[in-house]
Order: sequence, then C-alpha cells, then structure tokens
Amino acid sequence: MKLLAVLVLLGAAAVDAQSWWPWWSWFSTPAIDDSTPGATWDGLRVTFGINPFEKNFDRLPRTKEMAEHEGWTLFGPNRCTGLRSACSSGYQIHNGICYKAFNTTKNFYDASSTCVADGGTLAMPKDTDTNAFLINLKNAVDNSSSFRFGLTDLNQEGDWIWEDNVTLSSFRPWGPGEPNNVRDEDCAEFFSGSHSSDANAWNDGSCTNNDTKFICQATPSAGTWRGFRYVKDNDPAVTLLFDKNGFIAGLQMGVRKSELPSDGSIPPQQVTPPWIEDKDMWLLTAYFIQPSDICSDGRTEAEYQDEGTGTDLYIQTGPNPTSDIMTIPLQQSDLEGTEWTEGKCFWGIGKHYWWNLRVDMDCKEFYPVFIMYNGGKLDAFGWNIGTYLDSPRYEHPAASFGMFMDPVPTCLADHSGSLSTMHVYLTNGYPPFFNHC
Ligand SMILES: *[C@@H]1O[C@H](CO)[C@@H](O)[C@H](O)[C@H]1NC(C)=O
Ligand SMILES: *[C@@H]1O[C@H](CO)[C@@H](O)[C@H](O)[C@H]1NC(C)=O
Ligand SMILES: *[C@@H]1O[C@H](CO)[C@@H](O)[C@H](O)[C@H]1NC(C)=O
Ligand SMILES: *[C@@H]1O[C@H](CO)[C@@H](O)[C@H](O)[C@H]1NC(C)=O
Repeated sequence: MKLLAVLVLLGAAAVDAQSWWPWWSWFSTPAIDDSTPGATWDGLRVTFGINPFEKNFDRLPRTKEMAEHEGWTLFGPNRCTGLRSACSSGYQIHNGICYKAFNTTKNFYDASSTCVADGGTLAMPKDTDTNAFLINLKNAVDNSSSFRFGLTDLNQEGDWIWEDNVTLSSFRPWGPGEPNNVRDEDCAEFFSGSHSSDANAWNDGSCTNNDTKFICQATPSAGTWRGFRYVKDNDPAVTLLFDKNGFIAGLQMGVRKSELPSDGSIPPQQVTPPWIEDKDMWLLTAYFIQPSDICSDGRTEAEYQDEGTGTDLYIQTGPNPTSDIMTIPLQQSDLEGTEWTEGKCFWGIGKHYWWNLRVDMDCKEFYPVFIMYNGGKLDAFGWNIGTYLDSPRYEHPAASFGMFMDPVPTCLADHSGSLSTMHVYLTNGYPPFFNHC
C-alpha cells in the first residue's frame, strides 16, 4: 500500500506539472490490487478530450451531499424512480396523456411549434372527458382568455382535421352558430371561461392572430430509470444517479433531441435499445449496484465505504431498469465467447472491448457502449455516439481508431472527428498511469 501511495503522489505531481514525463516507465508492472474488481472501484472519473494525458479528467462526487456541495443540482423530478407516467415540468397527466395550458399568446403556427419543441402537439380534446379536463386546466391558468387546440380546417374549408390527421368525429361541442368562418377562421379554440354567452365552447378562430393562448399535449416519458438524477451546469451529458440514501448508484448520459441530427439517424434503429427515450432526450444508463436495490434499500454508509463506487457494472438495455439489464463481466477472461470484440490496448487508457465489431459493418450498428479492462479487470466503460455532440464532456476521436479497435470498421473512415465518446473510470488512482494491458 505504501508503494501505491507514493505512486499516486508521483502521478499527481506529474499531472500537476502538465508534464509528459513517463515516470511510470520506471516500473515495468504497476502495483495492482488483486482482490475483486468492484473492491478497487474507489472513484468515478470522466475524461475530457481524446488524450487524457494532456487534458483534465474530472473526479466526480460519489455522494449526493458532496455533489450538492460541488454545485450539482437535481435534474428532473425529486424522486428515486423515473416513472413511466412522468410528464415534463408544468404538464399534468390525464388518462395517460400530459397536458399544459400555456399562459402566453401565440398564433397557431408558433403555438404548434412550441408544442412540438416540447415533444408533443397542440391538445386534442376528442371526447367529453378530455374536453372537460382541458376546460378546467385552461380556466385555472386564465379564465378570461381563449385557448387554441389542435384542430384546423386549413386544407379544405369545413373539413376539420385533428393534429394527428384524424378527421373530427361526432363529438364537436361548438358554440351556437360556430364554426362560422367569418374573416377566414380555420383554427379551433376554446372560448374563455368568462365569455358571456358561449363560455368554454369551441370556436373557429383566426390562425394568425397572436392574442390567443394555447394548450399542448405530450406522451409521458417512455423511459424509466432508478436513482435521483444530478447534473452540473444543466448539462445532461454526465448525469449522476444516487440511491435513496444518497450514495452513488450509476451514471447516465443524456442528449437532447435538438442536439441530434434532424433526420432521426441517431440513435440508429439497429441499436435502440440501449437508448431510452425520455421526453425531449435520449438516455444511456449504467448502474454500479443492482438496479432493483437503488430505490428500495439503497446502500448504507458502511456498504459504501466497503464497496466503493459499486459492486458491478450494469447497462440498461430497455425501458425497465430491473429486467432490461446487461451485466458486464468483471474479468476480461469471462468475455470469451461473448459478442464483445477485443480492441486494442492503449497504454494509460486501458484495453477496449467493442460490441460485435466487424470490418464491413454499417456504422449505424455501432453499439453505443464500450468497456475497458486494466490488468484483466473491469475498471472503466464509455459511450460512443455516431455524431458530433457539443458538450465539453465528449471526446472527438479523429482518425486514430486503429489505436483502439481491431478490426477498424471501414465505415469509420468517413467519421473522423464526427464521433463523440466519453470514458468513465470507476477508479481514482491515477490511471491513466496505472492502466496497463
Ligand atoms: C396568466 O397570465 C395572466 C395575465 O395574462 C395573469 O393574470 C395570471 O395570473 C396568469 N396565470 C398564472 C397561473 O400564472
Ligand atoms: C399529417 O399529414 C401531413 C401531410 O399529409 C404530414 O406531413 C404529417 O406528417 C402528418 N402528421 C401526422 C401526425 O401523421
Ligand atoms: C370563470 O368566469 C366565469 C364568469 O365570470 C365564472 O362563472 C367562473 O366561475 C370562472 N371560473 C374560474 C375557474 O375562475
Ligand atoms: C404575429 O407574430 C408574428 C411573429 O411570430 C408576426 O410575424 C406577425 O406579423 C404577427 N401577426 C399579427 C397579426 O400581429
């Protein structure tokens, strides 16, 4: 242990000096703890930049208390489980659909775009029950404004079509004499709750006037996860997951849909899952303890002290965090016969394994998760996304794929600089210097 401490000090000194001095070359075999990998997971670090020797890597907090102290903030709901029925902030659920009455005025087109940006559409009160719910919702926000919803006859006068292209059925609570199309009115709205004669009835209104409020609807989150989520600087690229007692339980990578190519090519259909859709984001999730324990029991202080960052590495591969789980082998020797393809060992970073790597593969099939072994033991993993993402958390490998992969898929020739990767180490000791192959 003393030797280890000296090495850590030396490592720290080398890093502080920003030097490339290869001090570790003095030692042919760095000291490696021989106990189970989980027992050596004494940290949590994320690299910045493709070369961890040159760039910083961030030591992440492993308790909620420490995270809050370091400026991390709760991301999303203050609860341990991301529920299937979760609505975005400000939305209320009714019969499995989320609704929000916006207290701002917009024309039909801008209102519609606002709803799309929230991952939904203008609301569609297709039945009495939903209609009554929306009337209460809008009147609680503003009883004296009219509110748009998603019904128009823009294509063909008198031919009323919902936002989902379904034709208006017999449920049509228009106010008396409506729709009347005076001054070319093609967009449906609720009369205000305080309207003298037609309170809360439907009216055909102008699509272009900017004085009408509006109601959006969205489907609840399809993804669920376990743990309280924390982010720093509102950047979901690194989202920490804490168990019910505030100890580290996992890490999530979130990317906002607006950051992804608009053609929907990411995430590719070939590899969803492990991507999970969460309203306006796509998520990749890793856990360091059994996911079913995170919100039920959590870990005790003693368990956390004893086990460190965690006991195992699990990748969530579907919407159910307790059943849709891939357990990553702790020992490199256990990867034989699996679809994990041995990559190159990069001294200081570790031995990479990629999922089902082939020369002639389509880059869309590139599995977004890779794993890393150091001295034969799992000590790191990472994300690999086939597009350029802006967060400073990501690395953008350029043309050096041969240093990490064997074979290098031909399709990667076109991807220089346009991939985004992130390395996550479960150890604190200064690898990169301790990582060997
Ligand atoms: C909505 O806006 C109006 C002003 O247009 C304001 O009087 C009212 O309090 C607002 N409602 C809510 C719920 O904030
Ligand atoms: C409705 O139809 C239009 C054109 O006919 C199409 O562009 C749009 O994607 C459709 N919307 C939905 C929700 O199906
Ligand atoms: C809305 O205004 C009408 C007419 O003034 C009133 O009867 C009704 O109770 C009000 N509703 C709400 C929710 O304030
Ligand atoms: C409504 O707002 C838009 C900008 O969103 C503007 O171009 C348009 O002229 C406005 N229309 C009216 C009638 O004021």
